[in-house]
This record gives sequence, C-alpha cells and structure tokens, in this order.
Amino acid sequence: MRKDLGVYPAVFPMPVLMIATYCEDGSVDVMNAAWGTVCSMDKVALCISGHQTNKNIDRTKAFTVAIADAAHMAEADFFGIASAEKMKDKFARTGLTAVKSNWVNAPVIEEFPLTMECEYVETVNTEGVQCVVGRIINVTAHDYVLNERGKVDATKLDAILFDQFGNKYFRIGEEAGGAWKAGVPLMKGEQA
Ligand SMILES: Cc1cc2nc3c(=O)[nH]c(=O)nc-3n(C[C@H](O)[C@H](O)[C@H](O)COP(=O)(O)O)c2cc1C
Repeated sequence: MRKDLGVYPAVFPMPVLMIATYCEDGSVDVMNAAWGTVCSMDKVALCISGHQTNKNIDRTKAFTVAIADAAHMAEADFFGIASAEKMKDKFARTGLTAVKSNWVNAPVIEEFPLTMECEYVETVNTEGVQCVVGRIINVTAHDYVLNERGKVDATKLDAILFDQFGNKYFRIGEEAGGAWKAGVPLMKGEQA
C-alpha cells in the first residue's frame, strides 16, 4: 500500500559539498551544502542563500567545491553548523589546511581529495530559491583517488552522502552495475 507523505524534498542520496571562500579579512570560510549539483559539463548550481559564504562569493566572484570524505565527517558537519559570520576562527578551529587555488580567488582545502575550482557566473532567483551558478575552471584531486588511467575512482574517494530523511551521513556503498549498460538488454527487447 502506498502512502502520501506530503511536500517533502525526497531525494536520496544528497551530496556533502564543501564550499570554500575567502572572507573580507582573508580568512577561510567553508560551508556544508547538500542542495547542490552539476548542471552542465562545466557548471555547478548551489542552492545557498543568506550565509557568510554568499557574501564572500559576491565579493570574490569565486569559490571551490569539494567532496567531503568519511575521514573528515566531523569537520564537514561543523562547517554546516557554525557560521563564519559569528565565529571568526571557524576554519582555524578545525586544524585543516587551506592553500590558494591556482585558478580562482578561493581556497582549496588540502584534506578533501577532490575539488572543483569555480568562478562565479550568476545567481538565479526563482520563487523562494536562490541558486548560485559557477563555472568549473579546473578540478584538482589527490592522486590516491585516481585509477591507473588518471580518472577519479569513486570507491577511493570514500565520500559521505547526506540522508535528508534521517539527518544522517552515509558512506558510499558498493558498485551495483554499469550506467548506460544495465538497461541495454531491455533496449534489445530482452529480459533485464
Ligand atoms: C548536512 C548539511 C547540509 C546543508 N546544506 C545546505 C544547503 O544546501 N544550502 C544552504 O543554504 N545551507 C545548507 N546548510 C547550512 C549551512 O552549511 C550553514 O548555515 C553554515 O553555517 C553556513 O556557513 P557560513 O555562514 O560560514 O557561510 C547545510 C548544513 C548541513 C549540516
């Protein structure tokens, strides 16, 4: 039997994105964002509004987006609880390391294995939603998450995923099958 659950953001999994920017005094800010995605081959769209991060992006026109890994779950969660607006040593408290991106005016957090370096493009406003769009200028990754062909191996990322039903983080699971492959038998009129 099915049940109606009402209006609900019923998507799973959500990413755990780490948006890093520079504050006006040059200090580093990182915020946690689950409502973000890639929206074309070279663009990201982040539904973030009213944060210190937004002010930073307005000023610097740049940000980086990293994938949080299991080893840094506590820091990733903290970045979603604390605001640099009120806590001036927000980033410093974590003991993580930031270096300036070689490509944009934003920090790269060394401990996160995979990071997109983005320049600000525009903010799209629709009914109650503010969406920050950025162009991916470069992707930087630690070599330990790459396979022998130099491509990112998702299993090596050890990424965490956000469960917005239960407010929990999950670790990435095992491979279930091939994309653009699992459906091929049905395309051929065979049984799946
Ligand atoms: C799991 C998680 C996901 C979050 N996702 C978003 C999001 O997608 N958009 C948003 O505006 N805030 C989101 N937040 C809240 C911000 O990360 C939080 O308000 C943070 O303190 C902002 O930091 P800042 O003021 O230093 O920029 C999320 C928080 C958590 C814990």
